[in-house]
Parts: sequence; C-alpha cells; structure tokens
Amino acid sequence: MCGIYCYVGKKKAIPILIDGLTSLEYRGYDSAGIAYVTDKINIIKEKGKLTNLIKLVDKNTDTYLGIGHTRWATHGSPNKVNAHPHKQGSITLVHNGIIENYQELKKLLTNYSLKSETDTEVLACLIDKLYQENHNIIKVLSKLNELIKGSYALGIILDDDLNSIYAIKKNSPLIIAKSDIGNFLASDIPAILKYTNQYILLNDNEIVHLTKDKITIYDKRLNVLNKDVYTYDGTIEDVSKQNYEHYMLKEIYEQPEVIKNTLLPFLNGDQKLPNIKKYKQIHIVACGSAYHAGLIGKYLIEKYCHIETKVEIASEYRYQDNFIDKKTLVIFISQSGETADTLACLKKVKDICDTIGIINVFNSSIAREVKEVIYTKAGCEIAVATTKAYSCQVAILSLIAYYNSKTENILNNFNKLIQDLNNLLKNDYSKIADLIKMDEKVFYIGRGIDYTLALEGSLKLKEISYINSVAYPAGELKHGTISLIENDTKVIAIVTDKNLKDKTISNIKETKARGAKVIYITTTFLDEESDFYDEKIVIPDNQLFQPLLTIIPIQLIAYHTAKLRGCDIDKPKNLAKSVTVE
Ligand code: F6R
Repeated sequence: MCGIYCYVGKKKAIPILIDGLTSLEYRGYDSAGIAYVTDKINIIKEKGKLTNLIKLVDKNTDTYLGIGHTRWATHGSPNKVNAHPHKQGSITLVHNGIIENYQELKKLLTNYSLKSETDTEVLACLIDKLYQENHNIIKVLSKLNELIKGSYALGIILDDDLNSIYAIKKNSPLIIAKSDIGNFLASDIPAILKYTNQYILLNDNEIVHLTKDKITIYDKRLNVLNKDVYTYDGTIEDVSKQNYEHYMLKEIYEQPEVIKNTLLPFLNGDQKLPNIKKYKQIHIVACGSAYHAGLIGKYLIEKYCHIETKVEIASEYRYQDNFIDKKTLVIFISQSGETADTLACLKKVKDICDTIGIINVFNSSIAREVKEVIYTKAGCEIAVATTKAYSCQVAILSLIAYYNSKTENILNNFNKLIQDLNNLLKNDYSKIADLIKMDEKVFYIGRGIDYTLALEGSLKLKEISYINSVAYPAGELKHGTISLIENDTKVIAIVTDKNLKDKTISNIKETKARGAKVIYITTTFLDEESDFYDEKIVIPDNQLFQPLLTIIPIQLIAYHTAKLRGCDIDKPKNLAKSVTVE
C-alpha cells in the first residue's frame, strides 16, 4: 500500500525516482508524485497511474535529491490534491501508512490551512509545528511515536536543509540502500536492484538521515546505530517481465521452478521442517489468497497429523478472543511479510505461544518477528494477484503435514508433480475464458479441498476480470444461493477428491437442471464421459500435491478472461500488493 522511493546522490534524481516508483507501482496506482531539490523544493504530482506523472516531469532537470510516492488512497479520493508529497511550512513529505488520530491532531493544528483531505498532510503540519519549536528534526522524529497512533514510513525533506533526506518508520516497511551513485530509501528491495543490492533494514522508530555520501541511523534515544548491510541475493532480471505479456502470466509459468526451489531443500534434508506434533491445536492466520492456502493446510494437517487446526482471517483474528496457550502453534502465512493485519496478529500472540511464519520476502517484518520462519522461494512476485507465492505456500503446508505424519512416497509424488506442472502449462484455457468473458456472474463450487480451490479461483477471477464470481461449498448451494442460477449461468465445478465425487456431481446436476452451463474440472483418475457438464478440463492426478495441479487451469482461466475483457491484469483497479494498512 503506497510506495516510497527517495534518492540523494551524484546522478540526476528524476529518472532514478521514476524508475524506483515504476517498480513500486504495484503498491498503489491511484496517483503519484515527486518532490526534488534545485535551489528550492519543487513538487510535481498527478492523478492516476505513473505514466501521467511521467508526462509532466523533465528527466534532465538538474537535481540530485528527491522523494517520490505512488499512492493507494486511504483518506481522501484519488485526486491530484490528495497525492503525495505534501508540504506544510518547512516540511515536505511522502507517507505510507495511516495516521489513526489525525482528526484529533487536526484540532491542535488550527494555524495551518490544509489543502487535501489526507491524514498525511496533518502529519506534515504536526512535524512542521514541532520543528519550528526546536529546529532539530531528529529530535522531532524521535517524539512522533508518542503523538501518533497508526503506521507510517516517511521520507522527509526540509526547506532549510536541501542536502538531506530524513526518514522514520513504524509498522510500515522501509529499507535503506547504499550504492556508488548515492543513497536510497524504498518500500521494498526489488525497487533498488537496478542500482545496488546493498541494503539496510530498519526497525520501528529508528530515524534516518541520508546525504549523498553518508547514512546515519539513530535509535529513539538518539544514539547512533551501527547497522548491518545486507546483500540481496537476486538481480534486476528477477523482476523483469522478460518475454511475457504480463507479470501474472510469467509468474504462473514460473510455478514448477519456484515450487521446486521451495521444497527441494527440505526434500534433500538440507533444511528441517518444524515438528508440529507436539502442539494440541494449530491456528493458521493470513489474508486473501494466503488464507486460502491456509485452508488447504488445515485439511492436510487434520487429515495426516490429526491436530485440530483453525484458519482465521487476520483482520478478524486480531479482534477476537483467540483461546491460545503454550500448547498452541500459530502459523502466519504471508507473501509480502508486511500485511498489517497479519503482523498485528503476530504481535498479539507471539509472547503467549510458538509462532511460525511461511513468508516469501526475506527479512520482512513478519519474517523477523516470528519464532521460526520458513521461506517460500517464489522470488519477486510483481503482479498484484498472487499465483506463484500462493502455490509455494500450499507446497510448504503440504510438506509440513506429510513430514509430521511420516507419509511415504513424497519424493515420487513431488517428481511427478513437477513433470505434470510443466505439461499442464502447455495447455490453452482461452476457450473457457471465451465462454465466460461476457458474464456478470460466475459460480465456483467444490467440496473439501476443492472448495478452498474454488475460493481461490473465484478470488482470482473477480479481482482481475471484475466478473462477480462467488465460491460455494457444492452442498451448500441449495440452502439459498441456487436461486441465482438461471439459464446459461456459468458454474465451474472442481472435483478431485474421489470420496466426495458423487456428492458433488449430484450438486452439479442440480445446477444443470436449472439451466447452468457447467465447466467441470477433474482428474484423469476420476474422469468419465457424462452429460452433466458442457466443458471439461482434465488434470493429472497426484496423491499428495493435487491442489498444485488443480490451481493451474483456475489461474489461467482468470488470466485469459481478464485479458479478453481488456483489464489491466497486473494492476487491477482499487487494489495494491502488500496491504500495509488495516
Ligand atoms: C490475491 C492476493 C491477496 C493476498 C493478501 C495477503 O490475489 O494477492 O489476497 O494474498 O493480500 O497478502 P500477503 O500474502 O502479502 O500477506
């Protein structure tokens, strides 16, 4: 949610800021803006995608310091006035996060006249007021935590110090990067890879002072810190689209490789999976697709390890009684490792019980706070809709269940999986996309694990193609929702579990009897000719890793449908990757 990119160094700043914001655009694309220094501070901002801002900037401007922002609107509509940077008094800043008490703060800042509807501008007023009082920005920033409720990563420049950028973060991501051409601040690591792979992680409430050749970091007591510099193990190639039309397609096709990278260290015995048998109950906490991956984890852990497992949406779990004790294990699943609700749940429980994170982004906030982290090796995921990270989460959860139950034949199933994935990815599902592309509603149904895949299929379809798709447990339709089935309503039915096959087929027939057009997804083992479907997709069987195969046509149907509908596949409207606000 919102991307921040700041640079000070010896190269012209505007092209660098634009490059950085381009790689952060997945975090928000309602509006974008930059502030840069010449003999004064200049601000350019514009509504809409970054391309609109690019038309307004002169990349040759003689400027070597600037701060930039790409916005996902929280307070105030996505227009030019609400776009960042915001300037009040001597302070110009960009912000990622939410200031929860901005209305109260506003009442204390009546001397300022606000131009926007944002919480961020109120923060600029507050910082300016404090700065006018004591003229020491480091001290001012060290007090913010006492005055502000909420989350923030801030990049700040001052009218009376045109050679410096200041920054602070709390509950929102921000890293520092250093290179031969200068120093950077960014919301994530891939954004700096064009210039450097050397980065420094920031903890909450640490304060940063950047100049072109110096990085100084203070703790909240204003002690100077000597922080580790990490080297990122990746290149700019990892984040390029290569020859694919969209990042989402590239990421779908990367799945055999990244699943292999994720599982092999465990299969080879180079890394160990956690012993979950010692816990009485397991909670899995996550949001969105990661929650759907968690649902598969629940099925497998309960089936193979016989441990009662609950899967909870983080934004709900956060405000519930959790009924946990030392015998509970809480597993947090997150691609970004920064999702605000998931992180808040972790902070809530981590002193009560053991925690494990299944995380994709190395050293992200959740990865750093959990007791034990298992990294998925999906690599950088740029498309807003997750595909390969979801699959890696499912792969790890499956392996945890199988290792803890001493299941046999894991390696055989794994080898077959990788082969079958590669074959499956050669198939073309655009015929199904063509069938549903004009529809206003589409149903996904299934039972058991197939229902969790229906949930994920329905989410993928609606988030990128904007077709109103709902997922239902097949047996539940007749308790209400079947009233929406009419002539030509498309029902995508998933049947991969032989124990539930006949039951689900009965439910499919109930929809067919009411005029539904059925797209039937099943496995080679369960496949049979019949008249209860209109289209059929047959996928290979896999005793242990079936969901990882089933999800392929589901992802590709969503992709091709969105493409046929002319949607912006990698950046669906209203969304952003890495949801760092509540
Ligand atoms: C959907 C999607 C989201 C994320 C969710 C959690 O395609 O990508 O639903 O799965 O926002 O994000 P992470 O995994 O970063 O915590």
